[in-house]
Amino acid sequence: QELQLNLEQIEKNGFDHFMLKEIYEQPSAITDTYRGRLNVEEGIIRMAGVDDNLERFLNAKRIVIVACGTSWHAGLVAEYIFEDLARIPVEVEYASEFRYRNPIINTDDIVIAISQSGETADTMAAIKLAKEKGAFVFGVCNVVGSSISRETNAGAYTHAGPEIGVASTKAFTTQITVLTLMALKLAKAKGSISNSDFHMHLRELETIPHKIEAALESNEHIQKVAFKYKDARNCLYLGRGFNFPVALEGALKLKEISYIHAEGYPAAEMKHGPIALIDEEMPVVVIATRKGHYEKVVSNIQEIKSRQGKIIGIVTEGDTSVRDLADYVIEVPDTIEALTPLLTTIPLQLLSYHIAVMLGKNVDQPRNLAKSVTVE
Ligand code: G6P
Repeated sequence: QELQLNLEQIEKNGFDHFMLKEIYEQPSAITDTYRGRLNVEEGIIRMAGVDDNLERFLNAKRIVIVACGTSWHAGLVAEYIFEDLARIPVEVEYASEFRYRNPIINTDDIVIAISQSGETADTMAAIKLAKEKGAFVFGVCNVVGSSISRETNAGAYTHAGPEIGVASTKAFTTQITVLTLMALKLAKAKGSISNSDFHMHLRELETIPHKIEAALESNEHIQKVAFKYKDARNCLYLGRGFNFPVALEGALKLKEISYIHAEGYPAAEMKHGPIALIDEEMPVVVIATRKGHYEKVVSNIQEIKSRQGKIIGIVTEGDTSVRDLADYVIEVPDTIEALTPLLTTIPLQLLSYHIAVMLGKNVDQPRNLAKSVTVE
């Protein structure tokens, strides 16, 4: 028993919980995802699973992404990235819905299954169905040799290392990294991105681990924000574009480990419902980086403020407009729009972590949840 405890402490590497350790591992995990794939000097992205099937990818009429939970959110981010860079239409499906819906799948569709564990039963069933219908299935998994990685026709591992905390953190950002590499690679091969834009994206990708380190430096400040809002009963998360899925993921993290009810919404949809919930008791986390739709998000923030909602803004370093309106701001470094999810996710992970710790919850093993869901 004692030996077991000591072992666990060693594995936690000085962190109080696996989740916190894994949040802090993201710079090195993403570096591992790049390793052997991203060559910025030569302007090359190597991914055997894509290279070996390049024609198929280039001729694909559509990509259908199937996944569950946090992996589904990574799929939603990928939808924005693939459509924006590679100009391939993407649909993102909950694996559980896809498998029971008699979906329309064509032989020139590519199905991408995303799964950290590679064991999720619904995702596995969706893959089998897609294969039966003649689609080519590509897996994005973390666990090497997992069932899904074996069932798929080709794939790319995330190489995030073992993720122990039930709430997914580094698996999510490394999934987005793999999918971004794929989208850029296809964009280049299709000619849907200019050479200079391609190189700019590669250079920027390489700086992401370092920028995540900078985002992690806000940890103590985030702890103060967490203390302020730990007793909230509900919480709203808003984002637009690439950061809409990040809002969903932020809300999921809070629900999973602190048991506070939270909802993620596209910022512009606030007026179609959630705005009715806003009062002085409601914290609203708004992702408002100084990129696409920034002014529109700022006007959403004004609407929240005029209804006395409490505003926590996730902003680009040096931002002043949101700072003037918000109760708190948490800064992340600047980057190109498509890569902002890799940075804006970090403070949301830390915020839910600290709230859950302050509420005395079992952060690494939240009630009723499992790391790998092998039942329907
Ligand atoms: C469970 C986990 C989540 C995870 C989801 C999908 O619900 O608690 O963290 O996102 O399964 O898991 P997968 O291994 O397929 O990514």
